[in-house]
Amino acid sequence: MAAQGAFALGKSSPDLFRRRVLWIALAVMAVFTLSYLSHQRHEDLQTANPLAVSPAHESEKVEEVGEGEDMEQMEQLETMEPEPTWTFVTGRDDMNYGLTDEQCDIAFPLLYQELDRARDHLVELNRTIKERDVHVDRKGSYDGRTHGEFQCMIHDGEVSQLLLSAFPFSYSNFTTTLTDLQQLYVIKEVHGEPDRSRGLAALANMYRAISSMGDARRLIPNVEFTFDIEDIAMEGEHNKERIRWTWARPKENPWLWPMPDFDGWSYPDDGVASYVQFREDVAELETNFTRGWYDKPQQLSWRGSFAQNGDLRRALVKAASGKSWSDVKPIDWHDRKDLMNMQDFCKFQYVAHTEGNSWSGRLRYLHICDSVPIIHKLNYNAHYYPLLIASGPNQNYVEVNRNFSDLVPKMEELLADPERARAIAAESTRVFRDRYLTPAAEACYWRRMFRTWRSVMDFEPKTYYIHKDGTRKRRGVSWERFSFRQEKSFEHGFFVEDKIKDEEPE
Ligand SMILES: *[C@@H]1O[C@H](CO)[C@@H](O)[C@H](O)[C@H]1NC(C)=O
Ligand SMILES: *[C@@H]1O[C@H](CO)[C@@H](O)[C@H](O)[C@H]1NC(C)=O
Ligand SMILES: *[C@@H]1O[C@H](CO)[C@@H](O)[C@H](O)[C@H]1NC(C)=O
Ligand SMILES: *[C@@H]1O[C@H](CO)[C@@H](O)[C@H](O)[C@H]1NC(C)=O
Repeated sequence: MAAQGAFALGKSSPDLFRRRVLWIALAVMAVFTLSYLSHQRHEDLQTANPLAVSPAHESEKVEEVGEGEDMEQMEQLETMEPEPTWTFVTGRDDMNYGLTDEQCDIAFPLLYQELDRARDHLVELNRTIKERDVHVDRKGSYDGRTHGEFQCMIHDGEVSQLLLSAFPFSYSNFTTTLTDLQQLYVIKEVHGEPDRSRGLAALANMYRAISSMGDARRLIPNVEFTFDIEDIAMEGEHNKERIRWTWARPKENPWLWPMPDFDGWSYPDDGVASYVQFREDVAELETNFTRGWYDKPQQLSWRGSFAQNGDLRRALVKAASGKSWSDVKPIDWHDRKDLMNMQDFCKFQYVAHTEGNSWSGRLRYLHICDSVPIIHKLNYNAHYYPLLIASGPNQNYVEVNRNFSDLVPKMEELLADPERARAIAAESTRVFRDRYLTPAAEACYWRRMFRTWRSVMDFEPKTYYIHKDGTRKRRGVSWERFSFRQEKSFEHGFFVEDKIKDEEPE
């Protein structure tokens, strides 16, 4: 609020000196906030248990960090750090897209592991993100099908340019600016595989995460990035070190930055509707089981097509065939026989998950069920998969081999020990449905993604490009306009071609 007030004052005053003083005040506040946040982030990394979100654990963490560190500095940090007066309450906060950075840290301390990993990978190599890293693929840089790609920018327009000219030296060290001015732009779209609606869903999610920030105290940096909407984002690419935002990454590819997949907006099928509506539908369905999990049939549910990852999926169907605990069936999208609505998986005590072309977005839906997830060893990581725990007191799923050779003994073990199975389901709903997969958590992840990306970005995004004759043209199309674009519009009573072109000079 204070920052916003200062900004307005500075603008209305013609006195340049006074304006500069205000900018300095603003800059000092930005540094202070940044250093506070970076301390917070380092602490997140110290926590081993994803469930340790209580204030008691916070103080333990500080002691751990203190070993071998400058104790004086640690004491300072401790006294500077306010006691968390706020805690995340499911049912009150899970739909809040606009939690502050501090609230995001308190509520979801272990959400950002994939982002920290991606950043650390670059830092270890003394590598930064250059303009060429965010340029969409050039012809000849890949084989096979063209991937759908979106090159995007989040920018506060002229404000940072003004700051830059007022304080060229010191400002270049700051990576954040006022949020409530931030705009989302699409610089370039490459039409390719698969359907572009997935990209539009990601953009809508980002837009929501940005526009939910109600006041200037919350910070989102200027960033430029490219995301690839292909399931297998590195397929056909020649450059093994290609950096992209993707739905998921093979565990052995450290260059990709997992973003929340498009399912966080909506699964592209009317049977599921939007993610938020799906959560509501499941909540309603669960009320039918008056004794909760115990009232559900002691069976494992799965449906899927062999068109993707056929060998793996056939192994599941084979392992489960003829078992009284099995409701596992393949489907064929041509006749749609044996189809099951997504929410109906939740009517079983056990839900099986299989990867698809690469990762499968279905897991986040299964994680909304009060059921025990049975998951084969995964080759891909989506943004929240570091939170999966396969053993110990905080076990939240049951892991089986990729050939499902151990499915039968593991199912028999669970069926013989319902208390243990029930505890795994309860842990799954607590960690995923009620915390790390809430819409609130996802908005926090997006904003942290912008910030973590910016921390290794080595250029300032440009809002204009300059033609040879010196005239300048705005880069990109603002999301508000882009989301309405179509080949032809009928706005004025007759069809008009869309004249907006993404092309920019090389
Ligand atoms: C890191 O990269 C920068 C810029 O390329 C270079 O100037 C610097 O010497 C490098 N540092 C190390 C430790 O390699
Ligand atoms: C800004 O960064 C430069 C180079 O990294 C450094 O030498 C300088 O001290 C920094 N300035 C401030 C005000 O932190
Ligand atoms: C709950 O049970 C009632 C009665 O059997 C049924 O009509 C209704 O469709 C069920 N609701 C859901 C969401 O499954
Ligand atoms: C199934 O996978 C496990 C673990 O990778 C392996 O040890 C086992 O030999 C495999 N079984 C068959 C029948 O391939």
